[in-house]
Amino acid sequence: MALSLNRFFVILSFVCVALFLVQCKQSGEKKEAEKCTSNKPLNPNGDSELALMMRNMVHSSESLKELIKQGKLPDQFPEEFLKIHTAKPTDSNTKKASFDGYATNYILNLQSLYKSPKDQLTTNYNAVISACVSCHTEHCPGPLKKIKQLTIE
Ligand code: HEC
Repeated sequence: MALSLNRFFVILSFVCVALFLVQCKQSGEKKEAEKCTSNKPLNPNGDSELALMMRNMVHSSESLKELIKQGKLPDQFPEEFLKIHTAKPTDSNTKKASFDGYATNYILNLQSLYKSPKDQLTTNYNAVISACVSCHTEHCPGPLKKIKQLTIE
């Protein structure tokens, strides 16, 4: 009797630990996905330089998309986005080692869009959006759905 009761408690504590770990992992994943999703200030000190720049990138892409659908080439290259490398994120751990590679890839694609021949506009525009998606998949999955909607079908 004493033995089986012991065994019961051993099993019970294993189950508890397992449940706890699952719970922890889920809330971690949720936090990760919620990060960078909202348009509200995410921290009491206001929005980060990088977050504000990203919002401008969304607006810029929306107007690019409309122009390109009409077969027009955008005129002025948005110099401000070159600051992506140095703009400060909300949380200093956000920018992982691979960040700069993704950022360079994004800038290169954006530059070729602005130099693009008219019949390549849609392809080159979608390549810019893919560059957003690549970085976001690793760095900040929250806004992925919104970013993918910027693609020209
Ligand atoms: C090199 C990586 C990288 C690229 C490229 C990139 N992003 Fe981001 N993006 C981030 C990171 C990191 C954050 C989180 C910023 C923070 O928390 O301060 C972010 C945040 C955002 C946000 C949320 C901003 C907010 O409201 O807090 C949106 C929306 C967004 N990006 C859209 C885009 C779009 C659209 C593009 C392409 C035109 C793009 N991103 C390209 C890394 C990237």
